[in-house]
Amino acid sequence: MADELKRGLEGVLVAESDLSYVDGEVGKLVYRGYDIEDLARGASYEEVLYLLWHGSLPTAAELDSFAVDLAAERDVGDDVIETVRALADAGERPMAALRTATSMLSAYDPDEESDDDGEATLRQGRRITAKIPTVLAAFERVRQGEAPVAPDPELSHAGNFLYMLTGTEPDAVSEETFDMALTLHADHGLNASTFTAMVIGSTMADVYSGVTGGIGALSGPLHGGANQDVMEVLHEIDASSKDPVQWVKDKRDDGGRIPGFGHRVYKVKDPRAKILEEKLRDLSESSGDTKWLDYTTAIEEYLTDQGLVEKGIAPNVDFYSGSVYDSLGIPVDMYTPIFAMSRVGGWIAHVAEYQEDNRLIRPRARYTGPEDSEFVPLDER
Ligand code: CMC
Repeated sequence: MADELKRGLEGVLVAESDLSYVDGEVGKLVYRGYDIEDLARGASYEEVLYLLWHGSLPTAAELDSFAVDLAAERDVGDDVIETVRALADAGERPMAALRTATSMLSAYDPDEESDDDGEATLRQGRRITAKIPTVLAAFERVRQGEAPVAPDPELSHAGNFLYMLTGTEPDAVSEETFDMALTLHADHGLNASTFTAMVIGSTMADVYSGVTGGIGALSGPLHGGANQDVMEVLHEIDASSKDPVQWVKDKRDDGGRIPGFGHRVYKVKDPRAKILEEKLRDLSESSGDTKWLDYTTAIEEYLTDQGLVEKGIAPNVDFYSGSVYDSLGIPVDMYTPIFAMSRVGGWIAHVAEYQEDNRLIRPRARYTGPEDSEFVPLDER
């Protein structure tokens, strides 16, 4: 079957991995055997990073030292901040600004180019993971005409990001909510951005290149960009005072796709969407503002009645994440960068794991172009 064509590499096994497993038939996600539900409710993003990068959940002492080492890497130099400012002034989109700034970070990495073992990947990965929130928060601050806020090493990864974004330490509910969102997005098998990072890593290129490529892949509307699209739909519905169900009907009549629905692997509702929906319900009930919850529920109920969910086109993680970020006051075009801020942990883990027993990733295409074309020199064409 060597010549069987698998469009989009659907269902093709290209590697073995201990990191995460997605059971698309029953809607289950595990990181190293731990159910995402348990991790989302019981573990911090730092614990999840440790689990992904070092193979087991940390003890309290291991977590303390890991979190201190991670927090110590949060600062970025003035040159990076100035570049972020120039990108914001030029009206660059946050995901593109993040891609450029992440690439730039490699110039300041203290590791030697020759340090290309798995330990170096994790060391550099730790720096990238620590600095991405600083870059993103600075971008948001400067484009609002505010001064960047320096990271606070005493705060958690989630808490520090919200602090750098707003200049105020977040309350416990906001910090815990955001931390849960980071945990939920940290890894997800060989999704497009992770695979992109692995392809780059398989050439033994440095991890900055892999993460920069991963950010590019994640930015698309078929992947991480969908969380922003969902929120834009909710805003559009709100602004037009349209019934959410009518909006969906019109969209389907035009042959359009509903962002936040459907998945290459899940044939049932994404377990991450279930957890985020529950979180949204709690947040909406405690704030008394149920607008986004009402819209999303109406859309999901309508599409369920229409048999879409039964056909396997069910809510994915992006359907509910935006409404949760909105409750934290995060601007809509920062949603996909936040996804990157979390998924970077998975990209690094997969690159490091793959490089342990590296084999260059190099598939083939079935050639369908002309044969025996006769070459004509330029001046005779
Ligand atoms: N709305 C309406 N119909 C859909 C949707 C949707 N969101 N998604 C898939 N379908 C239909 C599609 O039209 C096709 O129908 P038909 O067979 O009649 O032509 C069928 O489902 C199969 O679609 P596909 O494109 O072959 O499926 P895929 O595995 O390539 O697509 C997907 C997966 C995520 C790209 C797609 O479901 C989609 O475009 N969803 C909307 C964007 C989105 O929410 N992306 C986030 C993905 S999950 C988290 C992440 O990766 O960031």
